[in-house]
Amino acid sequence: MEGAQALAADRAGAGAGEPKMAWAVPCDCTTGDRTERALQRSRVPERYRHCDFENYETDNDIENVSREQMAAWNRSLAQAKLMVQRFADEFPVGSEHGLLLMGPCGVGKTHLAVSAMKSIVLRGHSGLFYDYRELLKAIQDSYNPESQATEMSVLEPVLKAEILVLDDVGSSKPSLWALETVGHVLNTRYNEKRVTLLTTNFLDSDAGGGSSANGAPPARVAGMRAPTMEDSLTERVGKRIRSRLYEMCRTVEISAADYRKEIRHAGPFR
Ligand SMILES: Nc1ncnc2c1ncn2[C@@H]1O[C@H](COP(=O)(O)OP(=O)(O)OP(=O)(O)O)[C@@H](O)[C@H]1O
Ligand SMILES: [Mg+2]
Repeated sequence: MEGAQALAADRAGAGAGEPKMAWAVPCDCTTGDRTERALQRSRVPERYRHCDFENYETDNDIENVSREQMAAWNRSLAQAKLMVQRFADEFPVGSEHGLLLMGPCGVGKTHLAVSAMKSIVLRGHSGLFYDYRELLKAIQDSYNPESQATEMSVLEPVLKAEILVLDDVGSSKPSLWALETVGHVLNTRYNEKRVTLLTTNFLDSDAGGGSSANGAPPARVAGMRAPTMEDSLTERVGKRIRSRLYEMCRTVEISAADYRKEIRHAGPFR
């Protein structure tokens, strides 16, 4: 029997002539396989499969960066990790809000989103990871008459997954069609009380009146540039979607150095 050890045993107290019971017990050696399969089903990219909360570092040190700056960045990382981990631990209880992880390149937004999804999916919930551009492309490709996939076959799992990670929101230039499609996905999920975790490089410009889910302006950490209106999230996804995201998600702004550039390449052992 694949992935399990078939164990046969006398049922406790079974008398002569009564049937013997057999049952399947998952074998330890397949736990890794099952994890891998769950992550594949959820479309978590290979590159991010190792991500979890344990290996998300919040005590980084970078040469030539002041102690105050480094402490502020590490506090921002620790706070983001705490919020995302709490969200994952409590899911699905109290998860009427998703999360919107905002911040510059390489601060670990996707790492944290995948960590949350992984812990939720491994508890048996259904989850799906989609890069924003890939989702739009998959839907667009499904319109091609030669395509095997129909629009519904792409959209249905996206609409129905208990948790959806939509990564890198706003990364492609917004066309009217793209905004309508993303609006439809977010609205449907919201109306059906399904939770969405989003990441984006685009911040709220002060001109856009950005505020977090509880109405307070997001606390911007030292070293984090407020964008101009032209490169704000509102500009990338439109006012309606940005407004809907306030309602759907708690905002988690992360301000830190680019881990890919500053941390991983800094030491000989990384
Ligand atoms: N604090 C951290 N601790 C450990 N690894 C990290 C941390 N931050 C980022 N990484 C790693 O650095 C790489 C880049 O992180 P990630 O892709 O999550 O950043 P991002 O904020 O999503 O960037 P982008 O905006 O470019 O999408 C990943 O391999 C991730 O595992
Ligand atoms: Mg990312």
